[in-house]
Amino acid sequence: PDASLVLGIETSCDETGVALARIHADRTELLVDAVASSVDEHARFGGIIPEIASRAHLEAMVPTITRALAEADVDLGEVGAVAVTAGPGLIGPLTVGASAAKALAVGLGVPLYGVNHVIGHAAVDELVHGLFPERVMALVVSGGHSSLLLVDDVVTGVAELGHTLDDAAGEAFDKVGRLLGLPYPGGPHIDRLAREGDPTAIRFPRGLTAAKDQARHADDFSFSGLKTAVARWVEARQDAGQEIPLADVAASFADAVADVLTAKTIAACRRHDVGTLVIGGGFSANSQLREMATARCAEAGIDVRIPPVRYCTDNGAMIAALGAAAVRRGLAPSPLDLAVDSSMPL
Ligand code: KG4
Ligand code: ZN
Repeated sequence: PDASLVLGIETSCDETGVALARIHADRTELLVDAVASSVDEHARFGGIIPEIASRAHLEAMVPTITRALAEADVDLGEVGAVAVTAGPGLIGPLTVGASAAKALAVGLGVPLYGVNHVIGHAAVDELVHGLFPERVMALVVSGGHSSLLLVDDVVTGVAELGHTLDDAAGEAFDKVGRLLGLPYPGGPHIDRLAREGDPTAIRFPRGLTAAKDQARHADDFSFSGLKTAVARWVEARQDAGQEIPLADVAASFADAVADVLTAKTIAACRRHDVGTLVIGGGFSANSQLREMATARCAEAGIDVRIPPVRYCTDNGAMIAALGAAAVRRGLAPSPLDLAVDSSMPL
């Protein structure tokens, strides 16, 4: 085995991700990132069905590993360490990934590293924009989480400053998508619609930004009030027999989400004197957030790092990146009876 070659496996939700990364002195290089998704199998249910996802991971695991190795022209025997998502996520899917990773680690006689999925969404940026500077702020936004992390060390020094008190940003988009009659998952559809609408058409509420909330929840988010406000607004129009201006509703809603996320995150960067912001997670594919964060960070003199969209959604690269960071630091591997944890803390 080659100690600098790390295989990453991600199965926390509906994406089977397998990636290979190579550790260099000054950077971690992504060799390949293979993903198989069961998202289409869930679409008709309007949400992820864990049992279907588990079975899909089981079927996709070996073919995806084989494909990743072939694309990178790497022999399985060269793999020097195996990293896997230990949580948070769906327990069945996590178990499939962890079982595969353990089998590989035992079979190859190489170390196993169980890593945190949420931190992986930030760590993947090290493959794109280089190793993190000493201190970075990370905003991780997806269908399952919306967290603000202060990162002093991506493996050993991650502190959660705040998180959503109710819906995650992507979850709020998916719920508003459903009430606007858009296909699941609604996030990308709202994004597309919003680009044709007027973001100032409707003033929707910004959760936890009032002075009284700032004291206790400066770094927390809340999107359920916003989602309800959109539902009320749409219902009122429908009851009055009026047409719903879908693009304007989407644009105004997306603007409210991007506004709160960027304003609170930049305020936290200032408060903690952090000059670099990393944005990750499936929701960071959102174009309204990307544009607003880029513009506002430029104004605030903050270096903003947002990976390309394909590294924002769930993938193996984020796990290989974090595994590589653990190997780079010479950290002790996880035990081979590593337990997955659906609500794994940071
Ligand atoms: O990270 P991810 O792939 O899975 C989770 O861990 O949740 O994130 C998926 C979430 C879904 O809620 C999806 O609707 C949302 O991210 N999403 C978007 C966009 N692309 C994906 N939401 C808004 N705009 C997008 N362009
Ligand atoms: Zn995720």
